[in-house]
Amino acid sequence: MLKPCPLSCLLFIFFFVFFIPKLSFSCPQDQRQSLLEFKNLLMTHNVKNHSIAEIDLMERFMTWRPNSDYCIWQFVRCSPSREVTHLNLSSLGKTDFIYTQNTVSVSFSFLRPVLRINSLVMLDISSNFIQGEIPGDAFVNLTRLISLDMSYNNFLSSIPPKLFSLKTLQYLNISLSGFEGEMHGDAFLNLPRLISLDMSYNLFNGSIAPKLFSLKTLKYLNFGVNDFGGEIPGDAFVNLTSLISLDMSRNSLNGSIPHELFSLKTLQRLDLSNNVIGGTLSGDIKELRNLQELILDENLIGGDIPPEIGSLAELRELSLRKNKFNGSIPLSVSCTPMGCGSNKN
Ligand SMILES: *[C@@H]1O[C@H](CO)[C@@H](O)[C@H](O)[C@H]1NC(C)=O
Ligand SMILES: *[C@@H]1O[C@H](CO)[C@@H](O)[C@H](O)[C@H]1NC(C)=O
Ligand SMILES: *[C@@H]1O[C@H](CO)[C@@H](O)[C@H](O)[C@H]1NC(C)=O
Ligand SMILES: *[C@@H]1O[C@H](CO)[C@@H](O)[C@H](O)[C@H]1NC(C)=O
Ligand SMILES: *[C@@H]1O[C@H](CO)[C@@H](O)[C@H](O)[C@H]1NC(C)=O
Ligand SMILES: *[C@@H]1O[C@H](CO)[C@@H](O)[C@H](O)[C@H]1NC(C)=O
Ligand SMILES: *[C@@H]1O[C@H](CO)[C@@H](O)[C@H](O)[C@H]1NC(C)=O
Ligand SMILES: *[C@@H]1O[C@H](CO)[C@@H](O)[C@H](O)[C@H]1NC(C)=O
Repeated sequence: MLKPCPLSCLLFIFFFVFFIPKLSFSCPQDQRQSLLEFKNLLMTHNVKNHSIAEIDLMERFMTWRPNSDYCIWQFVRCSPSREVTHLNLSSLGKTDFIYTQNTVSVSFSFLRPVLRINSLVMLDISSNFIQGEIPGDAFVNLTRLISLDMSYNNFLSSIPPKLFSLKTLQYLNISLSGFEGEMHGDAFLNLPRLISLDMSYNLFNGSIAPKLFSLKTLKYLNFGVNDFGGEIPGDAFVNLTSLISLDMSRNSLNGSIPHELFSLKTLQRLDLSNNVIGGTLSGDIKELRNLQELILDENLIGGDIPPEIGSLAELRELSLRKNKFNGSIPLSVSCTPMGCGSNKN
């Protein structure tokens, strides 16, 4: 015998019948179609003469059959309401252990169909050696995206303005992507939830626009190994009140360390190495109470090594090599819980 449905159960049914369908974005048929379109573009362009890489590619997309359930296709994950939420198209040219960047080619235009899937939360297109420019409207429809990994590609272009206007985005990786040129001050303006930004190993140049990193929620920022020049703008980082790791190593930054950096109280890792930063190191470095790693090697920083460094209780790594420090190494620095006299110029 069925029991009568209590009020809560009726409410549930009411909710299910009237609201759930409205919550879904694009319809499942469209999503299946978009995925298949992508697969077709990839295959028609690549599978010609049965090289190992091509056969691997075909095998990896075997599950993507028109009449099967796309939610169990490889690289695809769905929400309970059968919307595609995760798409991992990383390393498409990889056969077992090696990348075959010459045999499988992925053009950004192949991605057009998947960029219509507006329910995507995670998109990984890393390690594909994708060539060429990215259209400025590429990501406009991905209004729920939380994680975007575009690292290890070969875009060889600058970043169009507003490309990353993704209000929900928390993780962005554009490391090793062949991006070049100057960054627009508003390049990352519309990323109010960004937690992690990795733009290392590119060819970004010009100076750092003061408003470039107005990203209050940011914890991890890496723009090391680029060609940014000029002085580090003092107020560039003032709003990064949650920052834990800041890496601007291997650029061409000059001037001196801006005092404002010492207000980043949450910082645990600071790497300014391999620039042409001069001036002196202020004793106010002690304000960075949570600092675990301070890496300043290969710059032109002079004057005394401030004894205040010794008061940084969490410091595990200190590297000041190849600078212009003079005077003696303060006892508070040379004798820490890590041991005595390990870091000289
Ligand atoms: C496969 O096709 C490429 C051109 O797309 C060609 O350069 C290569 O020699 C072909 N390989 C074989 C084994 O035929
Ligand atoms: C995507 O898949 C690769 C393996 O092919 C894996 O290394 C990577 O972590 C995955 N990306 C995400 C965001 O899960
Ligand atoms: C975004 O969605 C609109 C409406 O569905 C479509 O016309 C447009 O081509 C899409 N743009 C991209 C880049 O996917
Ligand atoms: C970004 O991608 C590169 C290359 O794929 C990887 O080495 C790096 O760890 C990634 N960064 C983050 C913050 O995950
Ligand atoms: C930045 O690099 C581009 C080429 O990638 C070049 O045209 C431009 O002059 C460079 N700008 C600066 C300030 O070096
Ligand atoms: C820091 O945030 C304040 C308040 O939101 C804003 O007025 C200021 O322009 C921001 N500064 C920078 C350098 O982004
Ligand atoms: C810092 O770099 C900029 C841009 O490369 C240059 O114009 C300026 O003269 C440099 N300043 C110093 C003090 O070297
Ligand atoms: C130590 O460095 C400071 C700052 O660069 C400089 O003013 C001072 O003359 C130097 N002292 C010696 C003894 O070289």
